[in-house]
Amino acid sequence: MIRTRLLVLVATYVALAAAVDFAQEEKIRNLIENVDTRYSDNVFEDANLNAPELIAKYRYPIEVHTVTTDDGYILEMHRIPYGRDANNVPNEKKTVVFLMHGLLSSSADFIIMGPGSALGYLLAEEGYDVWMGNARGNTYSRKHVTLNPDALLNTDFWKFSWDEIGNIDLPTMIDYALGVSGQERLHYVGHSQGTTSFFVMTSLRPEYNDKIVSMHALAPVAYMAHNTSPLLNFLAPQANSIEGISAILGIGEFLPSSEILTIAGEALCNDEVAFQPICSNILFLIGGWNEAEHNATMMPALFGHTPAGSSVRQLAHYGQSIAGKEFRRYDQGSLLSNLAVYGSFKPPSYDLSKITTPVFLHYSDSDPLAHVEDVDRLFSELGRPIGKFRVPMASFSHLDYMYGINAKELLFDRVINLIRAMDANTFNEIDNN
Ligand SMILES: *[C@@H]1O[C@H](CO)[C@@H](O)[C@H](O)[C@H]1NC(C)=O
Repeated sequence: MIRTRLLVLVATYVALAAAVDFAQEEKIRNLIENVDTRYSDNVFEDANLNAPELIAKYRYPIEVHTVTTDDGYILEMHRIPYGRDANNVPNEKKTVVFLMHGLLSSSADFIIMGPGSALGYLLAEEGYDVWMGNARGNTYSRKHVTLNPDALLNTDFWKFSWDEIGNIDLPTMIDYALGVSGQERLHYVGHSQGTTSFFVMTSLRPEYNDKIVSMHALAPVAYMAHNTSPLLNFLAPQANSIEGISAILGIGEFLPSSEILTIAGEALCNDEVAFQPICSNILFLIGGWNEAEHNATMMPALFGHTPAGSSVRQLAHYGQSIAGKEFRRYDQGSLLSNLAVYGSFKPPSYDLSKITTPVFLHYSDSDPLAHVEDVDRLFSELGRPIGKFRVPMASFSHLDYMYGINAKELLFDRVINLIRAMDANTFNEIDNN
């Protein structure tokens, strides 16, 4: 039955590949009328809807906002302003929580596991005004006022790393969200690169510390000296040549979202196909493996949204962090170009002591990208570290922070309690290691 549906879906998709858009609207309208469920009721449908469509499908209020950065990138934000089942009165002023995704991901990370499981929905039900950012270059923010991301042999659009995401995108999106919501401060929750970019913002532009009530770093990534991700370790020694080579080839983008991947994910990673373990292994290569928290059934939906694209330079910058064992600005590749950009031969370190936001680090024993020793060093150098929270499951891994079956019980409930405690001023500064 599922297999027949799948075949029909894939066939339809291939046939309509060039003209998906107009069919999409009608499809969503039907979906919204027919769905009222807690988990994903159809992972194939969920693979083909974009984040706002998905949110609408599960009957949550959704607003799409765009904001343009000083350097011309057009960023799309997704807002769930209030809850569906609780705290569902429109137009009440609520505390803002800003969510920021990791490398190769998007706002979809915070909703893909569905109502009752995903952080975006949980926060809305708890009475928060939820804003989800999208970094320049990903599926939703692949636009610029003058530069063309698809320009042949011209990679100017892609000449950014997570330094620019932290230094320019985050301040722009945060100011915008505060302006629209009429608030002066917000809580920030980031995953992986969403933590890296936060540390970049608050160290390079310390005035932004005053706009953040509290920061919750899920799988914090700043120092990467102990990184054990097979993919990143493989790339790290090549960090400085990766960008040079790809520039020569005219490539600035890495693993963009594509219809092909969505279709492949549906066809090869679903519950009825022997190929499914290979899909799990692809995830493992990137983010580590944890059988206990891995819901294989969800893979078609995950591959429909992730990877969502990044610049080659984002990857190269992480490669530099691994190879150099420090948390520094992007190495431009030559002494003279570093001198021109930073006024020094070596790229400067990010000064973590300037980060005066109260920071909570949520980490785990088995995260290949946020090793315990690197997290400890980060904690000891931050300007105002409040707490260090080990996820109470030894095998908890990098992607489980977003897609784990029990992420709510193991992680999100605690984050929400901490946010509430910070608002109520009942949190004592202790190390909950
Ligand atoms: C895995 O995902 C499917 C589809 O959303 C859901 O029906 C199922 O309950 C999930 N399994 C677990 C153990 O959460």
